[in-house]
Amino acid sequence: MKNTVSTFQKMKDEGKKISMLTAYDYSTAKLEDEAGIHGILVGDSLGNVMLGYEDTISVTMEDMIRYGSSVARGAKNALVVIDMPFMSYQTSVYDAVVNAGRLMKEGRAGAVKLEGGVKVAPHIKAIVDASIPVMAHIGLTPQSINAFGGFKVQGKTEAAAKQLLEDAKAVEEAGAFAVVLEGIPAKLAKMVTEALHIPTIGIGAGVDCDGQILVYQDMLGMFSDFTPKFVKKYADLGSIMKEAFTSYIEEVGEQKFPEDKHCYTIKEEVIEKLY
Ligand code: KIV
Repeated sequence: MKNTVSTFQKMKDEGKKISMLTAYDYSTAKLEDEAGIHGILVGDSLGNVMLGYEDTISVTMEDMIRYGSSVARGAKNALVVIDMPFMSYQTSVYDAVVNAGRLMKEGRAGAVKLEGGVKVAPHIKAIVDASIPVMAHIGLTPQSINAFGGFKVQGKTEAAAKQLLEDAKAVEEAGAFAVVLEGIPAKLAKMVTEALHIPTIGIGAGVDCDGQILVYQDMLGMFSDFTPKFVKKYADLGSIMKEAFTSYIEEVGEQKFPEDKHCYTIKEEVIEKLY
């Protein structure tokens, strides 16, 4: 059954936990969907894990549409959320609505996600008024790393924790259907989760959030440039892939691959006529 924003709300209301993963391509989305994931985020983390940038700043609308639409084709049941990239909504409320619309029309998203709290509440409201569901994202918001001075846990001081609670309430009031809490103390995430009616989706925010999300290459051990503390490796596919690549290189070198069973045949008399 297709998951929607209503499914997410129902799950919170019934005390059921929501599982989300990122995906950036058709095949991975299909596998996650078949496994029964509730939501797939086409995160702008694709800047890091797919495009090899140091951060998410250079990701474009075209990147999000290209990767997003391939995920949408692979996800039959999961709710597909596509990230709004840096400067696709911060510039104005008008830009926010136009670009959210493009992610829906061209990316075939079921919802969009954007980063920020009180400051982007008007943007969220305008997008929601255009009948586009919005997932908010507060705490350690990677598009603000230059303002934060790096990837740092947020909400640790009294003032920062109060601001985070205000941000959470502002995005709910603006009409967001869910909010990602990234890189904040677990006890603060619990408070936010209890204070909000909409579901919270945690990443580095403890077990009391209404759901969890991870970048799939992190949880499969496929990305080694940087592994945050909050990542749990559910498999070491990186090692398995490297072993397979090494075996292939060796077998090609030793002419063990391809074998007869991998080859197409032709009648001997045809070949003879060619000499
Ligand atoms: O871009 C992304 O993958 C994200 C998740 C880490 C929540 O925003």
